[in-house]
Amino acid sequence: MPAGFDRAGSTRTLDHAAFVSARANGKVILLGEHAVVYGSPAIALGLTSGAEACVRHAECSTLSIGTGERLTSSDRPVGEEPVALRALRELLASLDAPPVEAKTVLAIPAGAGLGASAALGVALARAVTALSGSLAAGSIGRAALAWENVFHGNASGIDTAAAEHGGCLWFTRQGGVSPLRLGSSLQVVVALVEPGASTRLMVEAVAERRRQDPEGVGRVMAAIAGLVEAARQALAAGASGELGSLMLRNQELLVELGVSTPGLDRACGLALGQGALGAKLTGAGGGGCVIALVDGESRTRVLDAWQRVGFSCLEAKAGPDASSALG
Ligand code: MEV
Repeated sequence: MPAGFDRAGSTRTLDHAAFVSARANGKVILLGEHAVVYGSPAIALGLTSGAEACVRHAECSTLSIGTGERLTSSDRPVGEEPVALRALRELLASLDAPPVEAKTVLAIPAGAGLGASAALGVALARAVTALSGSLAAGSIGRAALAWENVFHGNASGIDTAAAEHGGCLWFTRQGGVSPLRLGSSLQVVVALVEPGASTRLMVEAVAERRRQDPEGVGRVMAAIAGLVEAARQALAAGASGELGSLMLRNQELLVELGVSTPGLDRACGLALGQGALGAKLTGAGGGGCVIALVDGESRTRVLDAWQRVGFSCLEAKAGPDASSALG
């Protein structure tokens, strides 16, 4: 990763003069996933790793993700290209930018609820913007959301907002993003429990459940919104025990929505058995990751227990100084 990123997170790479590089980070959702799609608030916490994108001008757009195939639009009519290339086309159109050759690398697992595709979208939007030298207000977020919607259909925008801003964030679909005031440090550990399901399919499954049972699902969504409001107060007061209890209640409601799995439930139980203050799935569910709120004592015990059963683990932190996760 090249050193010397500017405040927008982009830089000219040193190894290849024509390429411009930028990065963006993944996220976990502390509370409020799925309900956020229907207008409720949610709280996200930025990770300190995510995606890097390098771009340069080209005759026609190409895209590679990691060591995967280099996708090219040259020999395919619009509408028949692979989905990631269609997403790049939407991102470029949103920025009114010409075709690019784009190379990307992920430092977090894709499809696990950690916002990998949003981190790719923000990194690409930053790199393309830096290449063309223009930056209209809000253009990075809009371009990344245009990319994200190709994959997820009805993305709320929380993943791209978290990838763009980092830190601990309050988000609503209508109001966008604002940083949250924290009364004390927040320590969250993350376990990659099992392969994740497609966010698009999980969001569609919840939408179908809502069509079948509008009142029941409406009650669950309203209850989640109440927990998120209460969590904002708990975060401001530094009341970690209260925050943990709210996360646990959120997990119960996600079970009711049908988006948890036996593996995710077991991983939550394992963390609670080691003294975690709260634990829940994060992101769309159907597999993927679990997060646990920990303190100085339980942190190592939870990480050890998860690693003993073979989970890869990450950590996310934020402090009362409200510093951004980008850096
Ligand atoms: C995915 O990280 C969060 C969901 O609420 C979908 C979204 O908000 O776009 C499941």
